[in-house]
Amino acid sequence: MDFPGRHAGYAEYATSPAAHLARKPETLDHVEAAAVPMAALTAYQFLVEHLRLGPGGTVLVNGAAGGVGHFAVQLARTRGAGRVIGIASGRHEAFVKDLGADRFVDYTQTAAEDVLHEEVDVLVDTVGGPDAHRFLPVLRRGGRITPVFLGEYDPERATELGITVGGWQVHSSGEQLTVLAGLFDAGRLRVAIDSVFPLSEAAQAHTRAEQGHIQGKIVLQVVA
Ligand SMILES: NC(=O)c1ccc[n+]([C@@H]2O[C@H](COP(=O)([O-])OP(=O)(O)OC[C@H]3O[C@@H](n4cnc5c(N)ncnc54)[C@H](OP(=O)(O)O)[C@@H]3O)[C@@H](O)[C@H]2O)c1
Repeated sequence: MDFPGRHAGYAEYATSPAAHLARKPETLDHVEAAAVPMAALTAYQFLVEHLRLGPGGTVLVNGAAGGVGHFAVQLARTRGAGRVIGIASGRHEAFVKDLGADRFVDYTQTAAEDVLHEEVDVLVDTVGGPDAHRFLPVLRRGGRITPVFLGEYDPERATELGITVGGWQVHSSGEQLTVLAGLFDAGRLRVAIDSVFPLSEAAQAHTRAEQGHIQGKIVLQVVA
C-alpha cells in the first residue's frame, strides 16, 4: 500500500519505505497476511487513531462483512464497545455475528433506520452513497459518523441533531501493522479470505470484486 496520491498496480516486486512495513503475524500464512494491511489499517485508523474509541457505547458498522467492515466489527470489540451492530446482506449473518456483532441487520430485508432509534454512538459507514443521510436518526446526540466511503449525510440536519461527520484517508504505518500483528497472534483478530487469484488472473479478481457481496478480502497470490 502506498497511499494517498499515487496510482498503484500489481507487481511481483515493489519497493517501500521501511517505516511502512512490519513483520508478518506468526499465526497467519502469506495469503492471510496479504489480506490484512489496507483494510485492517483503515479500520484501525478510523476507530483507534482518529476516534480513539474507548469502552462502552454502541458501534454500528455498515458493510460489516466486507474488507474494512469485518475488521471494524472485531476492532470495536477489542476496544471494549458495549454493543456492536453489523449491517450486511443476509448471507453474511452468521459470519458477522461470529466476528463479535451482538446484532445483525440484513439491509435487503430491513432498513436500519426502521429498527435502530437514537442509540448508536459511532457509525463506521463503508458503503456511503447519496442516501447515507437515512442513518442520522439511528445516532444519538453527540454521535459520530465516519464515512469510509463518500456519503451524503445532510450536514445541516446532522448539526441540528448534534451528530458530527468526519472521514479520513488510510495511510501506511509499519508501527500500526505491528500492533495489529500482536492482535492476530493473540487470537483477538482474524482475517477472512473471500477468494484467492494468481497474479496472472488479476482481471478475474476484479470481476469478482465487481460482483459485490464480498466477505473479507480478495487476495492476489504471486508465489503459490
Ligand atoms: N477512506 C479510506 O481510506 C478507505 C480505505 C479503504 C477502503 N475505502 C473504501 O471503502 C469502501 C469499502 O471498502 P471494502 O474494502 O470494505 O469493500 P468490500 O470488501 O467490497 O465490502 C463492501 C461490503 O459492503 C456490503 N454492502 C454492499 N451494499 C451494501 C449496503 N447497501 N448496505 C450494507 N452493506 C452493503 C457488501 O456485501 P453485501 O452486499 O453482501 O452485504 C460488502 O461485504 C470502498 O468504497 C473503498 O474504496 C476507503
